[in-house]
Amino acid sequence: MKGIILAGGAGSRLHPVTRGVSKHLLTIYDKPLIYYPIATLMLAGISEILLICTPEHSQSYKSLLGDGRQWGISISYAVQADPNGLAEAFLIGRDFIDGQPCALALGDNIFYGAGLSGQLQELARLEHGAAVLAYQVSDPQRFGIVELDADGKPLSLEEKPEKPRSNWAIPGLYFYGPDVVQVAEQVTPSARGELEITCVNETYFKRGDLRVSRLQRGTTWLDAGTFDSMLEASHFVQTVEKRQGLKVACLEEVAWRRGLITDAEMRERADEFKNEYRDYLLGLLDTRS
Ligand code: TTP
Repeated sequence: MKGIILAGGAGSRLHPVTRGVSKHLLTIYDKPLIYYPIATLMLAGISEILLICTPEHSQSYKSLLGDGRQWGISISYAVQADPNGLAEAFLIGRDFIDGQPCALALGDNIFYGAGLSGQLQELARLEHGAAVLAYQVSDPQRFGIVELDADGKPLSLEEKPEKPRSNWAIPGLYFYGPDVVQVAEQVTPSARGELEITCVNETYFKRGDLRVSRLQRGTTWLDAGTFDSMLEASHFVQTVEKRQGLKVACLEEVAWRRGLITDAEMRERADEFKNEYRDYLLGLLDTRS
């Protein structure tokens, strides 16, 4: 399966900061926000990634991430001229998708938890239809919501409902079969003028082809779109990293553990840093020797 990361958007809730820099290049504790969705896709077993960003920030992403070879993956780039909605990712990414199954990850979503990689790898094996995640939240009015029956099958989908039918929010990581471009082509702009991902999911749901995979309560899902949520996410990552001495979303580590880079390549990566990030990478090699 291929993967698209959507890192465009207006970032208006983070003005004035995001007048000069893309939201996804801002820091979540010790890494840029964009590292987290890249790590999520890598943990799902996805190695071919298209990063979609705004035209003015394209060069910054290329400088930061390159072609992905340093992590044993491939990263290519496309731009979204205006924030026309999440479903536009499939139209922009049509050639990249090239008739294959594809995941979509929102650039500001962070996932962390035991057992998560296995769950995502299973979803990334999807060959047709669609699969979304569901995560229990206390404030469902803010999210796309799925109502589930006793077997965990979807009963209804709603976008930011005033009176939600459930507490199951749909996080920003979606899995689709090869027909997702055709499905996205049928979507028309919503009242707020966006091509909504909920419309794409609704099409699969109506066909009886939408699977829902519930995230366990021990899994953390955060979206870092406001000053408070960015700070909370930073504190979360800091707490986990300081307590365990293990980094969240360290791309070199994910690549090395997945066997995408060798010990020698890991040493080369480590030598590119002059701070504790270097010590951390070299320390991982020691744990294996
Ligand atoms: P949002 O948080 O809905 O929007 P935003 O990032 O533009 O921020 P704000 O509401 O403060 O203006 O977007 C969720 C994610 O999807 C985020 O990572 C940006 C990305 N996105 C796009 O890349 N293109 C789009 O057209 C939209 C709507 C969002």
